[in-house]
Amino acid sequence: PYDWYKKMRKNSPVSFDPERNCWDIFCYEDVQMVLQNYKQFSSKRNGSVSTLLDLDPPTHRRYRNIVSQAFTPRAIQELAPRIQALTHELLASLQGKSKIDIVADIAYPLPVIVISEMLGVPSQHRDIFKKWSNIFVSGTRTLSPNVMNKLFAKQGKAILDLQTYFQQIIAKRRFDPKNDIVSTLITAEVDGEKLSIEELLSFCFLLLVAGIETTTNLITNTMLTLFGHPDILKQLYRDNSLIPAAIEEALRYRSPVHSMNRFVTEDMNLKGMELKKGQEVMAWIGSANRDENVFDNPDVFDINRSPNNYLSFGTGVHFCLGSQLAKLEAKICITEMLKALPDMKLDTTKKLSMIPSAFVYGFKELPVSVGLE
Ligand code: HEM
Repeated sequence: PYDWYKKMRKNSPVSFDPERNCWDIFCYEDVQMVLQNYKQFSSKRNGSVSTLLDLDPPTHRRYRNIVSQAFTPRAIQELAPRIQALTHELLASLQGKSKIDIVADIAYPLPVIVISEMLGVPSQHRDIFKKWSNIFVSGTRTLSPNVMNKLFAKQGKAILDLQTYFQQIIAKRRFDPKNDIVSTLITAEVDGEKLSIEELLSFCFLLLVAGIETTTNLITNTMLTLFGHPDILKQLYRDNSLIPAAIEEALRYRSPVHSMNRFVTEDMNLKGMELKKGQEVMAWIGSANRDENVFDNPDVFDINRSPNNYLSFGTGVHFCLGSQLAKLEAKICITEMLKALPDMKLDTTKKLSMIPSAFVYGFKELPVSVGLE
């Protein structure tokens, strides 16, 4: 999409698509403004489930203040040993293989297990949980109406199943709190107010859709970019302390989320264009991250880039709650992969296929040979 973004930034940075009744916004300053200006660009959507993502202040603030108690830097850092153990487990199960798929073997299962454990899902239920997450992730926008309808029907059923399941977990934790996020969320309060059961359920659901595929794609996109820059990969093999910098730059260079939408709340003018109340606005994060007015040589992958103010986790009141967790998972996962698999090479005989979505940016598989014959 990067060539298209470049063309749009130059020729039509605020562009209307009558078919979708939607404005597409491509420049960094405008994307940033749209995401931050919640008064003129609302997040209220009419989805099947309403979550934190779909609220505007002041309602958003109350809900977010409560759930953010479960995502403090300390709470996230405490997960590190567990994430490391899970990564070891996944890597150990690959022993003896000469070819692996980074997506299916590591980058997808890791965040699934991390989130399921945070939510108190016992390990024997991981597979059902994985099935639910499969049903929700990506791909919906560009599929045919027929496929979409089938998917929505499936999602409707999965949402009900998931709610029933989490209702049981929540009921158990009320009497017998454990050291997991569900227990924290049940007891967390702001000004004496706690989350309602509906809010608790919608938050469990949000973690499933917001926290899994995005992290999978961060790991995959970083690795793919490193395979395309063998000198940097070599450097990282020698010096693991450079891995976080590579992840930071991969977040900008191949952002796991490429667009977020908003809705215009009042008629307004943007760069000479008349935006009308009720119209949708698509803020193209993937394009903002390559804006030549903000980043020198934006198409160069430079792990020493500083400053690197990418918009991949959004900005403003909805700034990603899971950014630290995602970076921690990616850091541990990539560090352990480089240690365990000393000679990873991308299998160039297969053409990589992208996830069909305008919203997430990632690849369905990343086949590599690992030289462990
Ligand atoms: C919000 C990206 C991982 C939980 C967001 C937003 C973006 C984003 C762009 C802002 C949406 C908006 O402005 O409307 C990413 C990326 C990730 C990632 C690129 C991985 C690389 C995670 C993880 C979790 C998570 C691991 C949780 C475990 C959330 C939540 C919100 C959010 C709860 C909503 C916050 C709010 O509305 O106040 N994320 N995310 N994300 N993300 Fe993430």
